[in-house]
Amino acid sequence: MAYAAFRSIGAYAPTDILTNEELSKMVDTTDEWITKRTGIKERRIAAKDETTSDMGVEAAKKAIQRSGLAKEDLDMIICATISPDYFCMPSTATIISNKLGLRNITAFDISAACTGFVYILSIAKALIESGMKKNILIIGAEKLSAITDYSDRGTCILFGDGAGAAIISATDNKDEAIIDIHTGADGEYADLLMTPNGGSGSIHDSLDQEASSCFMQMKGNETFKVAVRTLTKDVVENLKENNIESEAINHFVPHQANYRIIKAVGDALKLKEEQVVLTVAKYGNTSGASIPMAINDIYEQGKLKSGELMLLDAFGGGLTWGSALVPFSPLK
Ligand code: ACO
Repeated sequence: MAYAAFRSIGAYAPTDILTNEELSKMVDTTDEWITKRTGIKERRIAAKDETTSDMGVEAAKKAIQRSGLAKEDLDMIICATISPDYFCMPSTATIISNKLGLRNITAFDISAACTGFVYILSIAKALIESGMKKNILIIGAEKLSAITDYSDRGTCILFGDGAGAAIISATDNKDEAIIDIHTGADGEYADLLMTPNGGSGSIHDSLDQEASSCFMQMKGNETFKVAVRTLTKDVVENLKENNIESEAINHFVPHQANYRIIKAVGDALKLKEEQVVLTVAKYGNTSGASIPMAINDIYEQGKLKSGELMLLDAFGGGLTWGSALVPFSPLK
C-alpha cells in the first residue's frame, strides 16, 4: 500500500501591510480592541492587480523547489480558496497550472473556507493511498481583501491576503506517512459566516448586483463559541483515536483566526507555549492559506525538522472543521 508523505512547504505574503492603526482610521475601532480580542496587529494586503492565483503560484514555486521534485513530476493541483480569481470558472487551480507551465494535469478548487487546507490535505492523502496519484501540489490561497467589507468593523479587522503550498507524495515508508485526518461540516450553521449574494441563492436580481453584494458577513461571537467547542472536541478525539499524547506534538499549527480560539484549544490539550505556532499577529486570518503560511514560517526559521510531528486544526465557514496529524517528511 502507498502512504502519503508531507514533503515540502512554501508560502507567499504580499508586501503591503495594513496595521490596526490604519484600520482605526477607516472604521470605529482601536489597536487596543483588536489586539485584546483577536491578537492581530497587522495583515498583508495584495496589490490591486495581484490575484489569488499569482500568490498561489509564488507559494507553489517554493514548495516545488524545496520538494526535490521537478514540476513535471506533479500529477494534480488542488487549490482551497473562497476568493478565487473568478467565481465559478475557470478554477484558480487551472490558472495556477497554466502559470506554472503545466498543461496536462488534473486541477480543481474546493471551497471549505478556513478549513480548506485540511480538506485538500485529506483529498491528497486519499488519492495517493488509493494509488491514483503520486505527487500532488496542494495550495491554500486567498485574496480576502477582495471580498471584505471595509466599512464593517466586525469583519474587516480580521482578514488578510496570502498563500501557502505543500507537496504530498507517495511513499512506501510508513514512518513518513500522514497519520490521520479528521474533517467535518454542519450546514445548520451556514448563516454564521457567508457571502450571501452573487450565487444561485442570491436574493438580488443578478443584473442589479453591486460589488459589495459578494462581501463576507459574519456572526462573529456565535462563530467564536462554536469554533472553540468543535475544535477542542475534534483535536482531543483525533489524538485519542491515534494513541498520541499531546507532549508528542512538536508543532501545533492551528488556523490563525483569533489568538483566543488558539489559546482555548491549546489549553484544552495542555500544550506548552513553545509547541504552539502563532502568525496571527502579523498575517491575521488568511482563511485557507493560514495553516500552510504558518508551517512555512517555522520552516524558514529552521524550527521544523524532518520527522517532527505537526497537529493541524482549522475551523471556518460552512461551518467546516478538521484536524490532521502530520509528520514532516522531506526527501533526504
Ligand atoms: N472594534 C471595536 N469594537 C468592536 C469591534 C471592533 N473592530 N467589533 C465589534 N465590536 C464591538 C461590538 O459592537 C460589541 O459592542 P456592544 O457590546 O456594544 O454590542 C462588542 O465589541 C463585543 O462584540 P462581540 O462580537 O461579542 O466581540 P467578540 O469578543 O466576539 O470579538 C470577533 C469579535 C473578534 C469577531 C470574534 O467573535 C471572533 O474572532 N470570532 C470568530 C471569527 C472566526 O474564527 N471566523 C471563522 C473563520 S473565518 C472563515 O472561515 C473565512
